[in-house]
Amino acid sequence: MEKAFRTVAVAGLVLACATAISAEPPAGPPSEAQVAARVEALLAKMTLEEKVGQLTQIAGVAFFPGSPKPEEALRKGGAGSVLWLNDIKQFNALQRIAVEESRLKIPVLYGLDVIHGYRTIFPVPLAMAASWDPSVHERAAAVAAKEARAAGIHWTFAPMLDIARDARWGRIVEGAGEDPYLGAAMAAAQVRGFQGPYLGAPDHVLACAKHFAAYGAAEGGRDYDPVYVPEGRLRNVYFPPFEAAVKAGVGSFMSAYMDLNDVPVAGNRWMLTDVLRGEWAFKGFVVSDAMGVGNLTTQGFARDRKDAALRSLSAGLDMEMASGAFPEHLAALVAEGKLTTAAIDTAVKRILAVKVRLGLFEKPYADETRAAQVVGAPEHRTEARLAAQRSLVLLRNENATLPLSKALKSVAVIGPLADSKEATEGSWTVFGHVPAAVTVLEGIRAKLPGATVSYSPGPEIRRLVPSFFDDLVPGAKKPEQPPAEAEAAFQKAVETARGADVVVAVMGELANMSGEAASRASLDLPGRQEELLKAVVALGKPVVLVLVNGRPLSVNWAAGHVNAILEAWEPGSEGGSAVADALFGDVNPGGKLPVGFPRSGAHAPLYYARDLSHQPEGSPMYRSRYWDGETTPLYPFGYGLSYTRFSYANLKLEAPQLKRGQKLAVSVEVTNTGAVAGDEVVQLYVHQRAGSDSRPRRELKGFQRVGLKPGETRTVTLSLGPEELGYWSTSQHNWVQDTEAFDVWAGSDSTAALHADLTVVP
Ligand code: NOJ
Repeated sequence: MEKAFRTVAVAGLVLACATAISAEPPAGPPSEAQVAARVEALLAKMTLEEKVGQLTQIAGVAFFPGSPKPEEALRKGGAGSVLWLNDIKQFNALQRIAVEESRLKIPVLYGLDVIHGYRTIFPVPLAMAASWDPSVHERAAAVAAKEARAAGIHWTFAPMLDIARDARWGRIVEGAGEDPYLGAAMAAAQVRGFQGPYLGAPDHVLACAKHFAAYGAAEGGRDYDPVYVPEGRLRNVYFPPFEAAVKAGVGSFMSAYMDLNDVPVAGNRWMLTDVLRGEWAFKGFVVSDAMGVGNLTTQGFARDRKDAALRSLSAGLDMEMASGAFPEHLAALVAEGKLTTAAIDTAVKRILAVKVRLGLFEKPYADETRAAQVVGAPEHRTEARLAAQRSLVLLRNENATLPLSKALKSVAVIGPLADSKEATEGSWTVFGHVPAAVTVLEGIRAKLPGATVSYSPGPEIRRLVPSFFDDLVPGAKKPEQPPAEAEAAFQKAVETARGADVVVAVMGELANMSGEAASRASLDLPGRQEELLKAVVALGKPVVLVLVNGRPLSVNWAAGHVNAILEAWEPGSEGGSAVADALFGDVNPGGKLPVGFPRSGAHAPLYYARDLSHQPEGSPMYRSRYWDGETTPLYPFGYGLSYTRFSYANLKLEAPQLKRGQKLAVSVEVTNTGAVAGDEVVQLYVHQRAGSDSRPRRELKGFQRVGLKPGETRTVTLSLGPEELGYWSTSQHNWVQDTEAFDVWAGSDSTAALHADLTVVP
């Protein structure tokens, strides 16, 4: 009670405006006018230094060189936001300095990377995209938001919306894969989940659409390397998820690190102002990526840090993350007449407006008692298990090896990831988080209480070049396993397999092998995993490979030799339970690949939505692109099997012709022709045969995940209209919808064969 009173009094002092102040944030969102009035009243009292403070985000841990101590910065109004802190007591202590000791008592905004869960960890975003179920991703983001907000975090640096077509790029794990249509659906779902029905809704956080844009197109898949992408491809491929996030009301954006067509995004006015605010009418604020402003000098763009501050703010960047160039130079730039006060005010207003909307002035502190109830609540684990189940993709299942019988007497579980809590939770869990996942080994043991479940990890795997993030993860820095020890571990794993009826090999990548600064040239199973797999298959028993990984892997040998492959991704807190559910038939996997699997790292970038070649598909010349192997993916985009089978029929267009600008319904019948219930993702692809520009040979333009009982038929209706059939034309330098002929396909992956013709007419 006393605390609530003090909060009210402080807020009342700060905000001399007409809006009534209460101890709780208002039940619904305040109007634009109410927010603007509060912001203007505050702005009128601010010195230039205090304004620059609001544009400054500082680090809560000593990781970024030169970041000041939060206590000192907050006391003098020198920071609007703190990142990389995860301690509710420290949050409240620092907030108390901001709202009680600083002159204007403006609350601090705490930001953190809450990417796929806070305490309860959900499958990584790439896995969530494999569910092809935006509602499940929305619920996951809502749980993450609820836990994070209860723990004192206001702002997540998520969702990551970078389309990634190069599996070598480690950050492919953080996004929705290769396709803009699927990516846009997942983007909107995550924004709704993180932010709730409106920005400032209780139990939710501010979301951040990152990294704007085309970061996933880094040359050679090398993280942070420059990107060269023409405008047409930016608009048709890389922008759609970001625009979808704006439409869903996202409150903040993060600029990408890299050089985009020779203009780094943190200093790119066309991106941050013309497109984002001019075309999309984005109203929130833009933060740089960490040290992104300072990096403008390293990138050979800005002359020095002062020039970097000038050019990024002028380009439309509002808040600087942890490089310190704004507090160093903005005030001087105003004094010298190089920047106007109005330009500073615009950025400050955007940030203050978000703080008002989030209710921080009314409720600056986190409640430790409530945090203890909310964080890691059992019902959140239930959601995490459901999400993991829905993101599993069955890649291979020879002779119905799966599901396995629960009457099995002995199972050998082998592989370096079988009992790794870190790998099961995967890349990007929050600071100070202690992995508490159910591993695949634990999941199988729980499923088969009466059986002998033996376990042997085999040789360890490791990055050849360590990650600089390993410093932050306890236990991540490990010496290399001595060769003799590795050999003994190899032999022990083979012996363990020899003694069992069935072998489950859990292999893939460690958590630090994908994510930021985790690009690789090869996509093979790291270390001796494939060798171990071969030795175990040679025993002649049924072998199931469970993949735990954050990117497509070129499992060519396994794809031809093991009995079954289940893609589990990095499945989160309940990952091992979900995998066991699928292995033993309590769940029928229904996910589909959100990214194709190349046959090697040398095949990347590889994506299905390429333009057609001048050689017709199917001709010998088309097929022989590489003389040393196939050009096709190992597994195509959209692919995934089931324990049942589906057939498609009666692809029907409402009419064979469509007037430009109008919509048309497309329906198709899908039947479960197998013996068990299962989920199918009905996918709709189009191809425009000629037009203002060459168009991709296929593009996803609709999908729906449906559950069908054995024998059941469902008619799925999707729609095609200007949004699906229009595009940004390079030759016209504008948006167009051509009056041309189209191919339409429906089916279960990007090779779908059921076809119809469509013509768009004037
Ligand atoms: C750098 C990463 O690129 C970005 O995704 C992240 O949000 C920030 N660091 C803060 O952790």
